[in-house]
Amino acid sequence: MNKQLIAVIDFGGQYSHLIVRRCRNLGVYAELVPHTTSHETIKEMNPRAIILSGGPSSVYAENAPVCDPEIFNLGIPILGICYGAQLIAHTMGGDIKQAGMREYGKTELSVDDTTDLFCGIEERTTVWMSHGDLIESLPPHIDVIAHTDGSPVAAFRKGCMYGIQFHPEVVHTRKGENMLKNFLFRICGCDADWSPESFADSAIKEIRETVGSGKVILGLSGGIDSATVAVMLNRAIGDRLTCIYVDNGLMRKNETEEIVHTFKDNFKINLEVVDAKDRFLKRLRGISDPEEKRKVIGSEFINVFEEVAARIKGVDFLAQGTIYPDRVESAATSGLASRIKSHHNVGALPAEMRLRLIEPIRDLYKDEVRTVAKKLGLPDSIVKRHPFPGPGLAARVIGEVTPDKLKICRDAGAIVEEELTGAGFYDRTWQAFAVVGDDLATGVLGDERSLGHIVIIRAVESVEAMTADFSRLPYDLLEKISSRITNEIGGVTWVAYAISSKPPSTIEPC
Ligand code: XMP
Repeated sequence: MNKQLIAVIDFGGQYSHLIVRRCRNLGVYAELVPHTTSHETIKEMNPRAIILSGGPSSVYAENAPVCDPEIFNLGIPILGICYGAQLIAHTMGGDIKQAGMREYGKTELSVDDTTDLFCGIEERTTVWMSHGDLIESLPPHIDVIAHTDGSPVAAFRKGCMYGIQFHPEVVHTRKGENMLKNFLFRICGCDADWSPESFADSAIKEIRETVGSGKVILGLSGGIDSATVAVMLNRAIGDRLTCIYVDNGLMRKNETEEIVHTFKDNFKINLEVVDAKDRFLKRLRGISDPEEKRKVIGSEFINVFEEVAARIKGVDFLAQGTIYPDRVESAATSGLASRIKSHHNVGALPAEMRLRLIEPIRDLYKDEVRTVAKKLGLPDSIVKRHPFPGPGLAARVIGEVTPDKLKICRDAGAIVEEELTGAGFYDRTWQAFAVVGDDLATGVLGDERSLGHIVIIRAVESVEAMTADFSRLPYDLLEKISSRITNEIGGVTWVAYAISSKPPSTIEPC
């Protein structure tokens, strides 16, 4: 499946994912790999090319991230971007200097050679720079193929190895896509044969081969990720798949009924529904620390899941709907990414688990999962539904999860979704929901003053949840949501709107 893999070596740059996305959008499958990966492992991966990402470090810094230098001798085309280019130049004996005048932002590039990487690109073109160091000089056997006023070596070539100081993956580099196309197709000879759709077909085939005549269980949450995996597995192995849906009492309004309807009634998938509402609420009692809540939910999920799984005879595999950002946010890809939250579908599996793990969509971004889900015939109510965190509404109840706060959070969340849908904003937001905490505010009910909860509305726009901005919802819409929440839900006196972005906030409050 990955015969046309592009290995993007990650030096911790802010645009590393964007490089992967750009390659995939051009039809060439790419994956981020840690910079510590050995040349033997890279060789085994058999990539068509290697791209070295940018990164915040200086090549002379103590502990500067490096890659296995043997990678440069594999004879595979290499494109170093920014820090990646400096690293190649440094390894080849070039001089790297701190830029006296830091080049940042849009810069005019003068192209000196249009034979390959810059084929079809005009002599002067705008590129996006973001670096503190620059390559001052290179040994004579290396060709300089572009420069800028501030960088004597803005791009170079040695055999099939290229380095560029600027970021072709960023839209501000006007011809960045053409340069990447030149690298992938002209220099590396790739075919544009990867798409989320083609991925689905080969992934189903691969599942069939891996599972053989075995049996698989899958925790189905109703979210798009596990739903997509369920349908892929169902296609691959039919009723040798059993899905287990644990109703932990932390689901959105009517979610359980909808899940049963979609998977059991429509897709005819073996589905075990476990009512574990009381168990979860009991274990959550008295816990207010967000990480502690996640851990308890994760471990209780495993307990329930294992109990149910033990009743299903002859199971060999456990399937999970882990996707790429889950792995990255749990710091599984690069040792440089700091751990942000423990996403329970990655971190909490017991080491001694007897089942083999299959994660068919572990390399896909969310929008790619949506494309696959659509192709598999999943309904819009699932394909277009906003992502929902593993710990469910516990991630949206600040402090202890009590039945009262949970009800407010669930009912208010349903109102947010209904109103956004009615106003045509649901599909334009990445996630929109209600949050409730312990703080109480005064309200007036009739002539009486009363204390009630504060509900915070959170609506964000995002591409794949790595960063997010709050949605500029119209005041009229917010007013309607607010008045419905205070009128229809008992115990709420105030409604607020969250206007912080990610970073520094995260999307979920806990
Ligand atoms: P944050 O809050 O970290 O969320 O900005 C990023 C995206 O991940 C979802 N999320 C989770 N998903 N388990 C999950 O499966 C979790 O523990 C979890 N926490 C957050 C969140 O809804 C958003 O889409």
